[in-house]
Amino acid sequence: MPLENMKVMLAKATAGRYAVGAFNVLDYNSAKAAVQAAEELRAPVILQTSAKTVTFWGSRTLMGWLRELTASSPVPVAVHLDHCKDLDLVKECIEAGWTSVMIDASAKPFEENLSLSRQVVEMARPRDVTVEAELGAIVGVEDDIHVKEQDSHLADPAQAAEFCAKVQPDCFAPAIGTAHGIYKGEPKIAYHILEKVAATTRVPIALHGGTGLSDEVFRRCIALGCAKVNISTQVKYAFIDGFVAYHNAHNTQYDPLKVIKAQFDEMKKGIAANIQLFGGVGKA
Ligand code: 13P
Repeated sequence: MPLENMKVMLAKATAGRYAVGAFNVLDYNSAKAAVQAAEELRAPVILQTSAKTVTFWGSRTLMGWLRELTASSPVPVAVHLDHCKDLDLVKECIEAGWTSVMIDASAKPFEENLSLSRQVVEMARPRDVTVEAELGAIVGVEDDIHVKEQDSHLADPAQAAEFCAKVQPDCFAPAIGTAHGIYKGEPKIAYHILEKVAATTRVPIALHGGTGLSDEVFRRCIALGCAKVNISTQVKYAFIDGFVAYHNAHNTQYDPLKVIKAQFDEMKKGIAANIQLFGGVGKA
């Protein structure tokens, strides 16, 4: 089926108290792993691309692969631009066929974040493209975005309510204590903030920093309104580890297609496990 935006899939997930897995894909192989995992589990899926990945391959090339991979897919697939600070790139992706975009102006003062996020909604809505916006600052590294511990801060529920009322995003990413990358200690999730934000904004929430969270954290966050769960670092690790493990086990066999298949299997296994954990099985 043709690519979808996130609106219907997130509304269904919110109503059904499960979450749609949003996986950061890097190339054709990782995107194929996510699509095949979703198809086998009859689950909706979001293929996310970082701004860095779009710039690396070029938006048309990347969208060409993603369209080809999903054209005859029986499950709903959205293609989402993750954490983008650059309005020109947002515009380029919308024109190239992305069905969803994230504006990340969370490092800006509140009024500026609000204004930039609104501009993206105005750009996207006439094209039926959904918009995710962020408030607060999520600690860690997500490609080109680096937020140090001392610069991170949680979303304020009153500001979140005002932000969502004024911006009207389709999906909202409040900083609630999760982190991009590998957790160094036990994450302290601000469930009280998540609960308040979900209840007052009534916008589906995106849970960032999914890699390394426990099953219990996922379960509680999804129950409180997280309808989209972002997984990036885990895909990156599987991409590299799948390659290295295969080569170490067959270090005289220089057969790239076998290595690519090993990477694919490793990525698909992790993605499928996450889809199951988030409750997406059979929801397509
Ligand atoms: P991780 O890299 O921690 O999985 O976070 C992914 C993410 O939130 C992408 O926006």
